Amino acid sequence: MQLDFLGDLRRTHMCGELRAEHIGQKVILLGWVNRRRDLGNLVFIDVRDRNGMTQLVFDKGENPAAHEKASALRSEYVIAAIGHVRKRDLDTVNPNIATGDVEVRVDELKLLNESKLPPFLPGDTDIANEEMRLKYRYLDLRRDKMQANIELRHKVALAIRQSLSERGFLEIETPFMTRSTPEGARDYLVPSRVHPGEFYALPQSPQIFKQILMISGFDKYFQIVRCFRDEDLRADRQPEFTQIDLEMSFPQPDRVFEVVEAFLQAAFKAAGHELTAPFPRMTYDEAMRQYGIDKPDMRLPAMTDIRKAFTDEDLTELRIDASMNMVAVRIPKVGKISDREKKEIRALSDELAQRNKEFAGVLYDFAQLEKKRPQAATKIRELCAADSEDLIVPVVAIAAAESKARTAANQHAQFTAAGEARLELARKYADRHGAFTRTGEVGNDFKLLWVTDFPMFEYDEKENHWNPAHHPFTSPHERDMDKLESDPGSVRALAYDVVLNGTELGSGSIRIHRQDIQEKIFRALGMSIPEMKERFGFFLEALEYGTPPHGGIALGLDRIVMILAGADSLREVIPFPKTAKAVDLMVDAPTPVSDVQLKELGIKIK
Ligand code: AMO
Repeated sequence: MQLDFLGDLRRTHMCGELRAEHIGQKVILLGWVNRRRDLGNLVFIDVRDRNGMTQLVFDKGENPAAHEKASALRSEYVIAAIGHVRKRDLDTVNPNIATGDVEVRVDELKLLNESKLPPFLPGDTDIANEEMRLKYRYLDLRRDKMQANIELRHKVALAIRQSLSERGFLEIETPFMTRSTPEGARDYLVPSRVHPGEFYALPQSPQIFKQILMISGFDKYFQIVRCFRDEDLRADRQPEFTQIDLEMSFPQPDRVFEVVEAFLQAAFKAAGHELTAPFPRMTYDEAMRQYGIDKPDMRLPAMTDIRKAFTDEDLTELRIDASMNMVAVRIPKVGKISDREKKEIRALSDELAQRNKEFAGVLYDFAQLEKKRPQAATKIRELCAADSEDLIVPVVAIAAAESKARTAANQHAQFTAAGEARLELARKYADRHGAFTRTGEVGNDFKLLWVTDFPMFEYDEKENHWNPAHHPFTSPHERDMDKLESDPGSVRALAYDVVLNGTELGSGSIRIHRQDIQEKIFRALGMSIPEMKERFGFFLEALEYGTPPHGGIALGLDRIVMILAGADSLREVIPFPKTAKAVDLMVDAPTPVSDVQLKELGIKIK
């Protein structure tokens, strides 16, 4: 079909704007053909842009030329419609769209471009094939949901920028071509042509640069910034993702919390939700004991210590190991559970044991306990403050026949496994009553909290050395400084996480600002002096030029938007994401490069 030029046509309205008050006006709309209905003498076209949709009418009797042109339109053709707004006939009023009271009788139609038949249409709600969506991402992004998600992302980022700027934070850019910033993942490397055999690393975070900016006296820095990490991907992890990264001079953790609470309130407000601040706080230790995880989902009750429910006789009778933790998981309002569900819970118990070799426990059948030791069961109900509709699952260790000595690792595993059971059971059983979803969609129940006082180090069994639990620039607690060498496992860090409905939104810490302590930490991590000099010499030197006490945090913007959008994967809120295999299906990256390019870079592929 003959295509028209845009020329000097300028739209008067977006496609979602027209209302009864525009009746009689001459308008120009530009957009895509969403749908065509051909009733012979009358053709209806829904024209769409990101703002909405308007019904166009072509009447053969009134305007045969425009009618003929309209008859040839297909889905996703790009058009300009010049016409007059009129009231719809009563029987064609559409209360489901904002422009549903009116339509545009078209005087002149221009066809600006055609479209091949798309593999799916913007109006399709559930497209099962995600590969198809990613390959044709430009079409996928035309869909209402995706348009809304990307707009939400913009609004959230804008609100955060404004909030931080109002509090005196400066947005300062830091380099992408740099050297390794350790955050526990692998680096993406960029080969240098000018220095064959040498590589830049893409930053896993701006961590070192933001600390340098504090040394430079900028006092308050932030950046909404892309970070790059080559790590195993999951629904909430992408190889490139966006952080809201900030750092401030002379802060206590409370100062950082206030800033984050304020910008999260602004961000949630931009999405139509009120958040109450300050957020509750809990130490890492409390989180592990009460929730069995360092990012507790507070929409569900904590686990309850049920040691007090058992008499010594109960314990002997039930063969429960009294030296171990005993907790109960409660999922509210589950109602009766079937025999099949009981079997599932037993299977989960086995699965937890398989997954975790230190776990010495079982998920105990509460109904059986009620039969065998009714008093203990009643006491457990009381301790958990449970009503008859709640599902209660005691997690206890059964005394082994050859009574093995239990270790601290067993105790820890007991909490962790109970915590996993709590989430698993909630996912399975609370969901069916809408009491719990991962994304907080139901009732917009957003439960935020701070988890503080993380351990400073984690022991790597395979590599036989200590790793930083956060990163090596995190300050230990002043009180634990003298245990750095004698008992690293017990050193607590001035590190904190902000958690929302069981997802870690952000992590931060007060940093080490003294060179002597920074060196001590590198040493505790098993780094030799030459290695320290080679990797972080510039930084250790910078620390010697009047470094102020400083600290900060970084939050995942993608994760925040994902939760606000009620989505279950970051791919729903990143315009051009990668697959779980780190592939961009649309542009087809990564790809091999030409021999010429490799030669220039001095690289040979083995
Ligand atoms: P951390 O490594 O904990 O801390 O990262 C902070 C936050 O960034 C988000 N995030 C991710 N989001 C999507 N995909 C990923 N692969 C990914 N990795 C991390 C998470 C996480 O909570 N420099 C420190 C911060 C600091 O100490 O100030 C840092 O990067 O939401």
